[in-house]
Amino acid sequence: MDRRSSKIFSKIIGIGSYMPEFRLTNSRLEELVDTSDEWIVKRTGIRERRIAMGKATWEMGLAAAQAALADAGLPGEDLDLILVSTVTPDSLTPAVSCVLQDKLGASHAAALDLNAACSGFVYASDVADSYIRAGKAKHVLVVSTERLSGITDYTDRSTCVLFGDGAGAVVYTASEEPCGILSTYMRAEGSLGQSLFAGALPSEPDPLTGDRTIPSNYRFLKMAGSDVFRFTATAVPESIDNALSRAGLEAGDIDWFVLHQANLRILKMVTDRYGLDPEKVYVNIDRFGNTSSASIPLCLAEMKEKGLLKPGQTIVASGFGGGLTYGAIVIKL
Ligand code: ACO
Repeated sequence: MDRRSSKIFSKIIGIGSYMPEFRLTNSRLEELVDTSDEWIVKRTGIRERRIAMGKATWEMGLAAAQAALADAGLPGEDLDLILVSTVTPDSLTPAVSCVLQDKLGASHAAALDLNAACSGFVYASDVADSYIRAGKAKHVLVVSTERLSGITDYTDRSTCVLFGDGAGAVVYTASEEPCGILSTYMRAEGSLGQSLFAGALPSEPDPLTGDRTIPSNYRFLKMAGSDVFRFTATAVPESIDNALSRAGLEAGDIDWFVLHQANLRILKMVTDRYGLDPEKVYVNIDRFGNTSSASIPLCLAEMKEKGLLKPGQTIVASGFGGGLTYGAIVIKL
C-alpha cells in the first residue's frame, strides 16, 4: 500500500539536539563490571556514551526541541502537534510531550508520547507525516528523548556497556514542494517482545499473596542480545527495501543511510548488504552509544552541524529495537 495520494509533503525545516556533558568511558566501565575496552570496541564499536546525571528526560527533550525550533525559525505557538518518542518518561502522566507543550508555549498544539523504543523516531515521523498529509496539522514537532541510564543495570555487563542518554528533535512542516518524507514502512514483531524487556507495572499480582510489589530490578533493561541481533539482520533490510520501493528509489539513489546506532556491526552489515561506500552510512555510536529513539535525530543534528546535509539530498533512516519494532523512512531534503 503506498501513499503520495496527497499533494502535501512533510518537509524538514528544523533539526536540533541536546547531549549531556558527562562522558562514561569504556575504561570507567572496566571498573564497574568484568569487561574491557577491547571487547566493547570490537563487539559494538562504542568508546563512550553520555549520561544525563540528574537531567530529566523532559529537560533534555526541551533543549533539543528549542534548538530545532530556533533552527526552523518557528515559535512554539505555531505548532499544531508535539510527538515525543521515549521509553524513559519521567512520569506516566503527564506525558513528556505535555510538559514540552507547556514549556514551549505551544498553546495551539495537541501533544502525545509514543513508545516504539529504538524505532520511536521513525514511527513518530510517520505519524507526523500522516497528520500533515491529511491536512490536520501544518507544523509538527517530533522529539526523541531518552534517559536510558535510568533503566540500565550497571552490574550487568551485557547491557550497561551499550546505552547512553540524549535527545534529538525535528520540525516538519506542510509543503507543496515534492520533498520531505517520500515514503514510510513500519512493522512490529511482538512475538519477540520478551527479548528486550524493561518493566513498568507488573501485569499479574503474585498468585498466592496478591502482591504487586515491583522488584527493584524490574525496570532495568534486559536483552537477549544475540536474538535481537539476528532479528535486525532481516528486519533492517526489509524496512529499507520496502521504504525505497515505496519511494520508487534504489539504494544507489540514496545520499545518506542514517540508521539506529545499536551496534557498529549492524551498520557494517547494511553497508555490505547494499554494497555502499562506508562514507554514506553515518556513524556516531563510538561517541554516544545506543540512545534508543534519540539516535537517528542525533545523527541528523550532527550531520547538519557539520554541513553534510544539502538541499536535494535523499536520506533513508531505519530504526529497530524494543517491541520488537522496526521501520524506515525516506526523506528528501
Ligand atoms: N564484556 C565482556 N564480555 C561480554 C560483555 C562485555 N561487556 N557482554 C557480554 N560478554 C560475553 C558474554 O558473556 C559471552 O560470553 P560466553 O561466550 O562466555 O557466554 C560473550 O561475551 C558473547 O556474548 P554475546 O551476547 O553472544 O555477544 P555478542 O557478540 O552477540 O554481542 C551485543 C552482544 C553487543 C549485545 C549484540 O548482541 C548486539 O548488539 N545485539 C543487538 C542490540 C540491538 O540491536 N538492540 C536493539 C536496540 S536496543 C533498544 O531498543 C533499547
